[in-house]
Amino acid sequence: MKKLRVGILFGGRSGEHEVSLLSAASVLQAIDRKKYDVHLIGITRDGRWLTAGDAAHLLPSSTAAPQQLRAGDPEATPGAALLESGEEVLVAPMPARAEHAGSSLATLRSSAETSLNVDVIFPVLHGTFGEDGTVQGLFELADIAYVGSGVLGSSAGMDKDVMKRLFAAAKLPIPKHVTVLRRDWQESPRKTTGSIEAALRYPMFVKPANLGSSVGISKAHDRKELKTAVDLAASYDRKIVIEQSIGGRRGKARELEVAVLGNDSPQASVVGEVIPCKEFYDYEAKYLSEGSELIIPAPLTKAQTKQVQQMAIDAFRACDCAGMARVDFLMEPGKPSSARSKKIFLNEVNTLPGFTSISMYPKLWQATGLPYSQLIDRLIEFALERHQEKKNNRYDL
Ligand SMILES: Nc1ncnc2c1ncn2[C@@H]1O[C@H](COP(=O)(O)OP(=O)(O)O)[C@@H](O)[C@H]1O
Ligand SMILES: [Mg+2]
Repeated sequence: MKKLRVGILFGGRSGEHEVSLLSAASVLQAIDRKKYDVHLIGITRDGRWLTAGDAAHLLPSSTAAPQQLRAGDPEATPGAALLESGEEVLVAPMPARAEHAGSSLATLRSSAETSLNVDVIFPVLHGTFGEDGTVQGLFELADIAYVGSGVLGSSAGMDKDVMKRLFAAAKLPIPKHVTVLRRDWQESPRKTTGSIEAALRYPMFVKPANLGSSVGISKAHDRKELKTAVDLAASYDRKIVIEQSIGGRRGKARELEVAVLGNDSPQASVVGEVIPCKEFYDYEAKYLSEGSELIIPAPLTKAQTKQVQQMAIDAFRACDCAGMARVDFLMEPGKPSSARSKKIFLNEVNTLPGFTSISMYPKLWQATGLPYSQLIDRLIEFALERHQEKKNNRYDL
């Protein structure tokens, strides 16, 4: 039987380029080559698309086993070579075209020869241009099956302002928040500060609406910090979301995460908990420093676990997600079973969550009884199912 041709798309122009390389390296190691013909498609930081050997050059060196990669996981060993220079993941140098193509004409010819056909694409991309619906739009135009959410689910899951509106419409509990436009902030900072302070108490979390990996996010404890925080967030996006901190001045929110898998009848995994090593789960706590902990299953009562799993499925549906999403929660701090029950709020959905074999999403499925390579199989099946289901639409009058 002909093997299914799977394109693994990775890299990309977002700030999460390196995280994507780590996720893709893990997928490549685990994907069942007996079932699939695997094709690499790499996107460089500046947006060039590469295939085959050129794409493989982008990946972390094959000598680094995925368990050595530190992508947000404290159990990973210092991993090293890959992250020792701080924020930079050391990847192989950009493919030197000149090595195998003497002239630009030869380069053109060689790229025409390497055009490829695939049956399904697994976009192992995170953040802007990968998780936000843009690349999904390209797949739709090309009528190709792909893993994960469609254009709408992806972009809704990327935009923290729109996502909160959808959660609110589904009556899902979310932290108190306001959304501010960059233009209003820049033209009338005093008035804007007044309206933020009228709506929310300090400390507040200030976020660019459309980013991930905690980039551009800060916790503001007073008016001075609020100004710096909004200036920073406004350098990343025209919309800025400001939220009241769960936990307030008393303590850090507990951070719960659930993996959801499926299309029209999605399933929820066991619940996991992240204990960041810093004041909040910022970029450094996620990827660079050791000490953040992942606890699976999260210490919760049975009723709380059920509640969180149901909320995860409701959030997945509210954003019209497909295939997969990791749904993240914030819970008031303190003992879960203490007299006053602790409130649980939805934080966000991540439609292309970190996907190394030691990242939360695959680990949650592992703990639920679905090992990593079978998870990849399921995601591919759901991609094909969704693509097939669309064939029921008619496009004529
Ligand atoms: N309202 C909030 N209350 C308490 N902590 C928060 C709040 N919002 C964000 N955080 C902290 O900031 C981190 C990053 O925020 P998040 O909205 O998840 O952004 P990202 O999409 O970049 O992951 C969270 O994991 C949590 O540690
Ligand atoms: Mg988050």
